[in-house]
Amino acid sequence: YGDPSQKIDYVFKLVLIGDSGVGKSQLLSRYARNEFSLDSKATIGVEFQTRTLVIDHKSVKAQIWDTAGQERYRAVTSAYYRGAVGAMLVYDVTRRQTFDHIPRWLEELRNNADKNIVIILVGNKSDLEDQRAISMEDAKEFAEKEGLFFLETSALNAVNVESAFSTVLTEIF
Ligand code: GTP
Ligand code: MG
Repeated sequence: YGDPSQKIDYVFKLVLIGDSGVGKSQLLSRYARNEFSLDSKATIGVEFQTRTLVIDHKSVKAQIWDTAGQERYRAVTSAYYRGAVGAMLVYDVTRRQTFDHIPRWLEELRNNADKNIVIILVGNKSDLEDQRAISMEDAKEFAEKEGLFFLETSALNAVNVESAFSTVLTEIF
């Protein structure tokens, strides 16, 4: 996951948003440290982790910010979005409500972030197929209508986590 002594050509700030419990923090720890925890605690305030990768022979440091889905624990909105060039909008494929709230998160993002921000809609917990509440087709249709990238992921099984982040980072680049 990157040699810390290497020189950095670019730093890209990404933000994770979505309801509490959808798996934002676990997607981040899977991506940044290849770790996953089933008893992860709700995030309080804001945290970030980084991962350095190479795109087109340039080293890119992804600085990924994670805040609480719960209103009372959230970071100051304007500071959270400031300077962000990519966003991951996460819902839980097993909880309809988390998908129904996506338009609100998208509105907050559009009101606070740069208008050129690259956004991916992510349906997490794809490993829980037997509890699925949102079809892939419905989510894909919504994403197309709103001009967002879209993928389903599993932080637990490490499915598409790498692809979801690299889709955003490559598009920014
Ligand atoms: P807040 O910090 O409160 O906003 O929540 P969050 O979106 O960061 O959720 P978090 O990453 O803490 O995950 C919530 C719960 O879902 C934890 O018990 C995780 O272990 C679980 N979880 C996260 N990703 C997955 C996944 O891909 N599959 C399954 N089965 N469980 C997951
Ligand atoms: Mg969290």
